[in-house]
Parts: sequence; C-alpha cells; structure tokens
Amino acid sequence: MHEKKKKAQSVAEESVLTPIYASREMTRRIPKHRMPEQSTAPETVYNLIHDELIMDGNSRQNLATFVTTWMEPQAKQLMAECFDKNMIDRDEYPQTAEIESRCVNMLANLWNSPDHETATGTSTVGSSEAAMLGGMAMKWNWRDKMKKAGKPIDKPNIVMGANTQVCWHKFCKYWDIEAREVTAEGDRFTLNAEEALKLVDENTIGVVVIMGSTMDGKYEPVQEVAEALDRYQEQTGLDIPIHVDGASGAFIAPFIQPDLEWDFRVPRVISINASGHKYGLVYPGVGWALWRDKQYLPEDLVFHVNYLGGDMIDFSINFSRPGSQVVAQYYNFLRLGRDGYQRVQQSCQDTALYLSGEIAKLGPFELITDGSDIPVFCWKLKDDMAETRNYTLYDMADKLRERGWLVPAYRMPPNRQDLVVQRVVVKEGFSHDMADMLLKDMSKALEWFRGQPHLIAKKQGGNFHH
Ligand SMILES: Cc1ncc(COP(=O)(O)O)c(C=O)c1O
Repeated sequence: MHEKKKKAQSVAEESVLTPIYASREMTRRIPKHRMPEQSTAPETVYNLIHDELIMDGNSRQNLATFVTTWMEPQAKQLMAECFDKNMIDRDEYPQTAEIESRCVNMLANLWNSPDHETATGTSTVGSSEAAMLGGMAMKWNWRDKMKKAGKPIDKPNIVMGANTQVCWHKFCKYWDIEAREVTAEGDRFTLNAEEALKLVDENTIGVVVIMGSTMDGKYEPVQEVAEALDRYQEQTGLDIPIHVDGASGAFIAPFIQPDLEWDFRVPRVISINASGHKYGLVYPGVGWALWRDKQYLPEDLVFHVNYLGGDMIDFSINFSRPGSQVVAQYYNFLRLGRDGYQRVQQSCQDTALYLSGEIAKLGPFELITDGSDIPVFCWKLKDDMAETRNYTLYDMADKLRERGWLVPAYRMPPNRQDLVVQRVVVKEGFSHDMADMLLKDMSKALEWFRGQPHLIAKKQGGNFHH
C-alpha cells in the first residue's frame, strides 16, 4: 500500500515536471474517434487543442465573414463572466433579462419605433433565428386574416429577392411557404419594387427587403417597395407587410446614413431582424428580432416570463444559450454610444471605399459595388481583359489564401449565375494598413499570374456559404 502510494506520487510529480511537448500525449497519436481511456493534464490538452486550431487560420484575415472578429478585452472579460448563465433562465437571472430588455428598447429607439420604451422584441442566437421569428409572425397574421375572411390557408407565399441569405430559404422549407423570388437581371442583383409587385397576391404573407445584400452589400429599396405596396393596397384592398432583413444594415444605416428611411419610420415595416454579431460588433452568436408594435406579434406564438416584476416575451426556436453575447451587446451600447458606433462604422466605410477604389485601379477588375451602402463590396474580372484568359477570381482567392487572406469568389444569384465575383467585408479591426497589405498581395498575385502564361484558369471554386 505504502509502495503504491509512493509510485502514484512519483507519477504525479513526473507528469508535472515533464516538458509539455515531451509528454506522452504530445509524442504519440491521440485517439480521434473515441474518448481516451485516461485523463490528461489540463495544460497538455490546452496546448494540444490550441495547436490544432492554428490550422483554422487567422480570423482577422477572414474578409469573407460578416461576423465580428475583434472585441475589447473588457467585453471579453464580461463575456467570460456570463458563459455560465443561461439566457433562457430569465427568472433565475433577472438582471441579465433586464439587460436584454434594455437592449431591445435601445434598438427600438435606434430604429425609430413609435413606442420604444415598451418595444416588442427579443434577442436570438443570430439573424437566422430572428428572421424565422419574423417570418412566423407574418405567417400567423396572414392565416388569421384569411380565416376571418373564410378563405383557404394552404398556399402561403413570401416575396423576396433571389439574393436572400440561405436563412430565408430555410424558413420557406421549414414552414412550408412558397418562396417567390425576384431574380437578378443584367446589372440588378437585388429586389426592386416593380418586380416585387408582380409576385404579390392575397396569399403573400409579406415581402422581405434586405438592408445590405449578402451578395454585394447593397441596400434594397425599402421605401420604394412600401410605396408600391401602398398603391397595391389602394387598388386591391390587400395589406401586405414588409419585414426588413437588416442583418448587417440595421447596425450601419442608423449611424452613417441616418436620413435613409428604411426602419419603423416606414409604416409598412412591421418587423426587423439584425445580427448583433455582425455590425452590432459582438462575437457570435447574438441576433435581434423587433416588431413595430405588439399587435404584429401574435399572442398565440408567445410565452410570457416574469422577471423582476416585469413581463418579458419568450418567443424563440432555440432554448438554452449563454448570457454572454447579450451582455457584450449591452457593453458595446454603453461603451460606444451612438457617437462611438458612428465612428466605427464610418471608419469601416472609409476603408471599404479606399480599398475598393484601389482594387479598381489594379487593372483587371471592375467594381460591382464600392462599399457605400454597408462597408461590403465586390468586383468582377473585366470582360475584355486578355489577362482573364489564364486565371479567374477563384484562382485569385486561392492565391490570396496562401498569405492567409480569405476573400471568397462565388457566383451571383439566379439569373446571373454566369457572373463570378469576389467580395470583401470590412469590419472593425481591419485597418487602413491591413487594407494596404491586402492590396500589395493582390498586386503580387497579378504579377504571378502574368508570369504563368500556361496556367489553366479554375472554373469552379470551393463551396463558399454566405
Ligand atoms: C442579409 C442576411 N440575412 C441573414 C443572415 C444570417 O445571419 P446570421 O448569421 O446572424 O444567422 C445573413 C448572414 O450573413 C445576412 O447577410
């Protein structure tokens, strides 16, 4: 017994003293598809996993993602303090619930809700969940209206651009709704009022208008669509609501295009979704869904929770998630204020405009957008460039990846799938200096292509998901 104890002690000492990279786990292959039989020291496991994750690359060079890749250390600290709080336990964590409710009110105020102090909304795990909630509310409202009119309710449809993010396609599939899509035409890659109007009818639950198209960063014309639907209502009596997918733009337009009316100032806009984890400047995953007024959120869909004597809605698809992201959103609201958000978003836009202008000067590229809506822009290869013969934008994306930059190339939506573009999302943390480094690498890549006359241009890219 005594010997056994001594042996255990020396094994423990040995494992403490062993250099990390000379340990058993670091010098052998670790099992990948079954749990190891024995435990391993925390620092060894930390290093093991940390090292594997190096292969993911550097998120700060990921110009493909819209999602926040930089936050202040104080925000990170607060997030770490709240990882263990379940957002759904509003009764148990009433202060976190209170913070969520304040965020909803602040956003309602930002988006010009008529009664922002009693705003109706919720945090979600991202814009996808928020879009589904907005879509469900529209479906329920439409169904009630049709039932009251004694009309059939088996063929709901939703009108949107073919450029919509995949969450809307999921929404249609999961909730059995016909997707009526305005396809791209010539140089138009988004929905417009005229085309949207051709697709609506009495079975339309709503029109989705995007503030900041994922494909090219362009705003769709909320006001124009609303006016067209006003005229449609005058002629037909049909009142069709608008849901604004403001995943990116709802955190951009209020700060750098404050006069653009796209939000609750437009009476036909009944709900808005936004991603706190995009230009809301929070690490993933937080989204927001807000309704103009509680009358647009059917009571039937909502559970009520009491917290600190208040009433909070529980309208969600997900159940458990950490409180960290909501708290980090609140941190940003207090830390930055309107002025801070304006400065961050304006500097992103300045960098986007600078970078797009310089990319246009490189020669072979033609801008589709320049970053003047949200700080996102894309370009194509000029049709008539001799250089286009031996490389495509897929090759350009691969070449930049060698330097760690992720600048995706992809096809535009139906009917312009013939067109391949490359896109940059400028976010907080991407400085003017980094833009210059990217430009230098793009120039070098072009030089390399010029020196490879026999290179066979790549016709297909990887499977890039927006
Ligand atoms: C316009 C638009 N809507 C919805 C989404 C989905 O957002 P999330 O990733 O927050 O679920 C995105 C994501 O890029 C988007 O650009």
